[in-house]
Amino acid sequence: MPATTSIHGQWTTRLAFILAATGSAVGLGNIWRFPYIAGENGGGAFVLVYLGCILLIGLPVMMAEILLGRRGRQSPINTMSALAREEGLTRSWGMIGWIGVLAGFLILSFYSVVAGWSLSYVFKSGTGGFMGLDSDGSESMFSNMLADPEALLAWHTIFMVMTAMVVARGVQSGLEKAVTILMPLLFVMLVVMVGYAMVQGQFLAGLQFLLYPDFSSLSANAVLLAMGQAFFTLSLGMGAIMIYGSYLQSEASIARTSAAVVGADTLVAIMAGLAIFPIVLGAGLSAEQGPGLIFVSLPLAFSDMPGGLYFGTMFFVLLVFAAWTSAISIIEPAVAFLVENMGLSRVMATSWIAIAAWLLGIAALLSLNVWSGYTLFDMGVLDLMDYVTANILLPLGGFLIAIFVGWRMTERSVQSELRMKNPVLYQVWYFLVRFVAPVAILFVFLRAVELI
Ligand code: TRP
Repeated sequence: MPATTSIHGQWTTRLAFILAATGSAVGLGNIWRFPYIAGENGGGAFVLVYLGCILLIGLPVMMAEILLGRRGRQSPINTMSALAREEGLTRSWGMIGWIGVLAGFLILSFYSVVAGWSLSYVFKSGTGGFMGLDSDGSESMFSNMLADPEALLAWHTIFMVMTAMVVARGVQSGLEKAVTILMPLLFVMLVVMVGYAMVQGQFLAGLQFLLYPDFSSLSANAVLLAMGQAFFTLSLGMGAIMIYGSYLQSEASIARTSAAVVGADTLVAIMAGLAIFPIVLGAGLSAEQGPGLIFVSLPLAFSDMPGGLYFGTMFFVLLVFAAWTSAISIIEPAVAFLVENMGLSRVMATSWIAIAAWLLGIAALLSLNVWSGYTLFDMGVLDLMDYVTANILLPLGGFLIAIFVGWRMTERSVQSELRMKNPVLYQVWYFLVRFVAPVAILFVFLRAVELI
């Protein structure tokens, strides 16, 4: 009989889980990554493929991950091997957990560096650094920051310490407390930002860019990027949502909770686009600037807008909050594993994981300056970490999760955990998990390596 609670604790309410999972999902992926990748890949058509991936792959895989976590009630590595044993399968399914831990290290290390940029921009904006900026000035502000390894290291360190401080305090007094304070604030700030973009920016131009599809600009690689973005933004494929599911009460409906989280994450991504593109396009700037999009364009746009000092600062505070509630979910699976298997205290486990990710992050930040000459497929360490995790490791994890739930677990076990009331919706979900998600992931992979 599976355990009914995790040794690490439990969310106090279903709402706390929704906030935590939404906090994990909503992050740099929505506000930094989504707009710049959509911008580079032509806008509307990319957004449409992305929404398709969210609905047909993301939502069903999220339900599968929560289901596994809640049934296993342990870190993803131990959950997967315990559930495999329960089904009479090889324990090497624990591999899903290991891939996740590896992906988590890689993600957190570059994530913390980019979150560090955001922290730095809170102070740049707050001290009037955007005032009177022209486009050269804005570009050099960003490139000067990237060229300064010591400053990057300082911000990266501060962000990693912030993350570790929350995780070390545990599920209820750390994670849950942080998300219940930060998530409502984040939502209010985002609504204010969209309102600001409506009044001050070219709202219709932004809307058209985001929603008008031009499929001629959609490459096979763009489809891979859209799928990778769907996994990244929903925190899927590496066990983060699995471990959050392991802290969820047995009574809560997995389908309804997942739908709420996916809906909130998608809403935030679209709202972020609606806050950013009207401002960028309104200032006559290009949407195709890559990772610097919000860091170069927005300061410039804020520089000559009424209230720009306050709104600019608020925007980057929002970004830091979003990144913070995501980062805590990225290390939670590895921390839980160390506590379970090494008998470490939570504080020690968190410290070790944070230190390891911090060290790896140094390689990411050096790739922006000192090591900028070293590239593979035209990417430096930071870009590689981002590309490989989002577009390969996370979809691979999601593929294995779908196969496990759809084909290796008995339907009885699946149903006894999911307990969906609506038989039609259940059949739709089961079909998506068994056929649509794995086939779509494989197909996109193969197309991207140009085998078919
Ligand atoms: N989803 C978050 C974002 O959009 C990032 C994130 C948090 C994540 N936990 C994750 C990504 C786990 C992949 C896996 O910014």
